[in-house]
Amino acid sequence: KLDIPTTIVVFGASGDLAKKKTFPALFHLFEQNLLPKRISIVGYARTQMSPEEFHKRVISHFKNDSKKESVDGFLNLCRYVSGKYDVADDFKRLREEIENQEAAANIDKSGERIHVYYMALPPSVFVDVATQVKNNVYDSSCINRLVIEKPFGHDLESSRNLSEDIGALFNESEVFRIDHYLGKEMVKNIITLRFANVFYEAVWNRHYIDNIQITFKEPFGTEGRGGYFDEFGIIRDVMQNHLLQVLSVVAMNQPKSLGAEDVRDRKTEVLQRILPIQLEDTLLGQYVKSVDGSKPGYKDDDTVPKDSITPTFAQCVLHVDNDRWRGVPWIIKAGKALDEAKMLIRIQYKDMPNSLFPNLARNELVIQVSPKESMYIKTIVKEPGLSTNLAMSELDLTYKTRYHDVKIPDAYATLILDVLNGDHSNFVRSDELDEAWRIFTPLLHKIESERIKPLPYEYGSRGPEGTYQFVEDRVGYKRTGL
Ligand code: BG6
Repeated sequence: KLDIPTTIVVFGASGDLAKKKTFPALFHLFEQNLLPKRISIVGYARTQMSPEEFHKRVISHFKNDSKKESVDGFLNLCRYVSGKYDVADDFKRLREEIENQEAAANIDKSGERIHVYYMALPPSVFVDVATQVKNNVYDSSCINRLVIEKPFGHDLESSRNLSEDIGALFNESEVFRIDHYLGKEMVKNIITLRFANVFYEAVWNRHYIDNIQITFKEPFGTEGRGGYFDEFGIIRDVMQNHLLQVLSVVAMNQPKSLGAEDVRDRKTEVLQRILPIQLEDTLLGQYVKSVDGSKPGYKDDDTVPKDSITPTFAQCVLHVDNDRWRGVPWIIKAGKALDEAKMLIRIQYKDMPNSLFPNLARNELVIQVSPKESMYIKTIVKEPGLSTNLAMSELDLTYKTRYHDVKIPDAYATLILDVLNGDHSNFVRSDELDEAWRIFTPLLHKIESERIKPLPYEYGSRGPEGTYQFVEDRVGYKRTGL
């Protein structure tokens, strides 16, 4: 597939996402020789820039130790067109640039070609740009792919409107909705772990699993992003998309095949069985300044209204109402400005029945997605040596130790490679998105219409008071540490 001549247009090429994620990911693929042999990359944005200025921006987030000849080779592929997002003539110039590039590279127009339109753009211009692309750039003799980034709407209705607008311009088979959590190594590994190992799948159900906790913690606040964040809040920013996607991969039944539609069918089925979340099953928080006063509170940011009630922390309990999971609480938690950076999935097994050993701690399988890719099974062993006491130990697979020669790619690199290969498995289908909004929209509307106040928690703390009690109340178990 890497033989097909390809053009990637990055819209929003001067913005943060393009700088921090899209271009470094493209460069990573280039370094690994994974980009198509005949590729041209065109940045498009409103800012007027010389090619040199554009190149400088492109490399601003490359690793310092990148080899000069690789950087030069990559920049050689990158062009820039500046234009407005709603002016047809500007898009016609873009089309000319693409055609000129193809002509200069002697690309046969009657052969296969791929055009990728990557929208690293704010949602306010998604539809404008998609419309302009369709009317003035789109070439129906190519394979066309449109890559879009969240936020996909604000609630169920606005998301459906967006899907309809995009659907009127592009076929679903041309659309790639990025949820970058689906590109993370440990998330991609879940399907293999579950369906290639008999001893996981055999106990992956309500008979053996007591509860599952999916936790996202970040040690920094929303400084600099307050304007965006205040409109969305943590539920829309992280839970409705990233955490729910992870949940659906952990919870789904075995797909018929690894094909994209089979996998997405199974994920959608799980989402369909999740009941809308209740306010009583939710705990909301908003951070205030740190105990020592050195870190600002959420509302100290100038871009955040002083009376904001936007949650920066949320913890919810979900129930998947199907035979595999009925009765098992799924506790999802996400927070900014907490005590550490961590994203993990904790699967806690039930108590050992009829045990020879009273009061045993529970087994757990923990999949740590970041910062340190690893998985471990909390396992009870006899304390080594002459003792007959029990000890909690771990069967530990830490990727750095086990696979020290392997460089784990950034999620964006793997997802862009999937786009180039036309593989939709790790992208969100429109019906999945619809279900994800169905689960959260009543809660979001209630929080907003009733102005439900979040509980305060200090920057750098473990979250609002009651966070751990909330979990204990729902799983009826206190983790002892053993
Ligand atoms: C983004 C959110 O989608 O994901 C951010 O908008 C969040 O608020 C980020 O920080 C987390 O991604 P990662 O890959 O750093 O865990």
